[in-house]
Amino acid sequence: MADLLIHSMSEFADIIVPALEVAGAREIVEIGAEFGGMSQVLADIADAHGGRLTSIDPAPKKEFLDWVATRPGVRHVATLSLDAIDGQRDVDAWIVDGDHNWYTVYNELKQIRACSRRDGKPMLVFLHDVAWPCARRDLYYAPDQIPADFRHPHDWDSGMVPGFAGLVPGRGFRGCGQFAAALHEGGPKNGVMTAIDDFLAEALAEGEEYAFAEVPAVFGLGVLFAMDAPWSQAVAEIVLPYHDNALIRRLEENRLANYLTVVDIQDGFGDWSQAARAGDR
Ligand SMILES: C[S@@+](CC[C@H](N)C(=O)[O-])C[C@H]1O[C@@H](n2cnc3c(N)ncnc32)[C@H](O)[C@@H]1O
Repeated sequence: MADLLIHSMSEFADIIVPALEVAGAREIVEIGAEFGGMSQVLADIADAHGGRLTSIDPAPKKEFLDWVATRPGVRHVATLSLDAIDGQRDVDAWIVDGDHNWYTVYNELKQIRACSRRDGKPMLVFLHDVAWPCARRDLYYAPDQIPADFRHPHDWDSGMVPGFAGLVPGRGFRGCGQFAAALHEGGPKNGVMTAIDDFLAEALAEGEEYAFAEVPAVFGLGVLFAMDAPWSQAVAEIVLPYHDNALIRRLEENRLANYLTVVDIQDGFGDWSQAARAGDR
């Protein structure tokens, strides 16, 4: 059976690739490579435009390391994003899919904005995990890397189910040792979409307005871009048909319900809606 990976950004290639094309993106930076599924898509675009892909990931999988060894044009920076962004120069587009929590994403966006101003490059950022489960709940690959004031109480073993703000012990969507989840969904400084909301509100207060579109599929794709870029109209025409699309949102809910049912069967339980009700008691 083929490997089943239900969260790669490469699923969005039909949106991201044309958007990068119309923006003429040459220098591309990816945060979070994992197996390298999206990296391969991005490297091909960078090559076609005579540019370069830089992938920032402190702990990618062996599959990525094996692949990157065959692509001398691709640069792997093996550090945390917040230690690496400032060192990137003249970046045309950023793909953000590293640690999915408020502190990391909010500061990634602030640093990307600083790079954009420094280098005179209008912002074009594709952010993953802007929908459930990370929209309003922090996940942590390495909780000890997040300053204590910004780290929510979390758990490595309990899982998330849609519509329930707590965690359910031993079932639901969980990291199986890869990541921990905040005990509660919602509230200030919690989750990827909250980080984007806070970034956009602060930028607006400083007189800078960005466009933001959300594709509600595969855990959610956010596209944040400068409204005054020469390519902004062309990017908007590509992403707007998908923005907040009700059918796509419904299909994602259906996908998640099916996936969580499979997880429950693997865990030896019935259906996940019972888990939500059990957690409510
Ligand atoms: C969800 S996976 C990325 C998947 C990949 N973008 C794709 O679409 O196929 C997240 C990756 O981010 C990396 N990561 C975690 N924290 C990070 C950080 N602070 N900076 C950069 N990468 C990070 C992890 O090692 C992991 O490989």
